[in-house]
Amino acid sequence: MTDTISNETRFLHAIEMGLGAWQFGDRVLWSFGQTHNEADIHAAFETSLEAGIRFVDTAEVYGMGQSERFLGAMLKATDQPVLIATKFFPYPWRVHRWFMKYALRNSLERLGLERVDLYQIHWPGLVPPERLMDWMAELVKEGLVRTVGVSNFNPSQMVRAYTTLARRGIPLAANQVEYHLLDRTIEKNGLLARCNELGIRVIAYSPIAKGLLTGKYTPEKLPPGPRAVTAAATLTRIQPLLKLMTKIGQDHGGKTNAQVALNWCICKGTMPIPGAKNAEQAQQNAGALGWKLTPEQVAELDKASEEIVK
Ligand SMILES: NC(=O)c1ccc[n+]([C@@H]2O[C@H](COP(=O)([O-])OP(=O)(O)OC[C@H]3O[C@@H](n4cnc5c(N)ncnc54)[C@H](OP(=O)(O)O)[C@@H]3O)[C@@H](O)[C@H]2O)c1
Repeated sequence: MTDTISNETRFLHAIEMGLGAWQFGDRVLWSFGQTHNEADIHAAFETSLEAGIRFVDTAEVYGMGQSERFLGAMLKATDQPVLIATKFFPYPWRVHRWFMKYALRNSLERLGLERVDLYQIHWPGLVPPERLMDWMAELVKEGLVRTVGVSNFNPSQMVRAYTTLARRGIPLAANQVEYHLLDRTIEKNGLLARCNELGIRVIAYSPIAKGLLTGKYTPEKLPPGPRAVTAAATLTRIQPLLKLMTKIGQDHGGKTNAQVALNWCICKGTMPIPGAKNAEQAQQNAGALGWKLTPEQVAELDKASEEIVK
């Protein structure tokens, strides 16, 4: 671990894994109301907490505010400490700092919080990183935001954000990006290395490739909803990787493919935030903690993933 980590953001580097809350209320991709319901997501949340997960990621756009609303109710009902990350969506009309403050106030209200632990820009958008970070810095100063993050920023956008905040004495805490065995862009474009140099936590989203790495889907048994559109071709390609993951999981006393996928992200120095629709998935994902793939197994998985991913 790098010594460039600032004291304000050290807590994020201590978290090995979080919970993604896009599934809490989203009907479009995640079929909320069909594949899972309110009782299921409450159980997913509680099971995660019991298993030691203390970081939940949401966004104002997830379920059009529903994810934050559900999470707010869950936070109210627990006495456990939980760190919350949410996101500002840079709609093209949000060109003034006022929009960010308004969006944050609404998120805080839905979450029932006075301050968010990590506030992230969901996508780069049209407003330059310098301006977005100036707006963020004000929210930190006002005590509404504990730490600042970005998401889906490429290395140059990220460094611009980092530099702007640094001028105000504020660290860039995290960059949340897609990262899993089927998408290793951040290794190739230098983003992972740059984050390590600058003490920025990499939060890995879709760490089990939206369910495709679990092994429960095949070209004949596709995932429900819009995921099915691109899944068939991918599932055909990734069979050798899935077999290797199963074998490696067995060598660790019967770890599942999902657990191997998540452990691989952790071994690469990132914080995966798997989404879970119910208690069973949450329980299984938490089982990615407390053990480690060997460096040889990480190398084997790397090789198998390189052979199937362009
Ligand atoms: N910043 C961004 O732009 C961005 C983008 C995407 C996601 N995210 C964040 O990252 C989080 C995770 O990413 P994600 O939700 O896209 O994908 P993911 O975590 O890779 O996959 C989650 C899905 O996989 C299935 N699943 C999860 N655990 C399982 C298990 N143990 N066994 C079997 N199936 C399991 C479930 O769907 P089924 O049961 O339906 O298969 C679940 O909804 C999100 O919740 C969100 O917080 C951020």
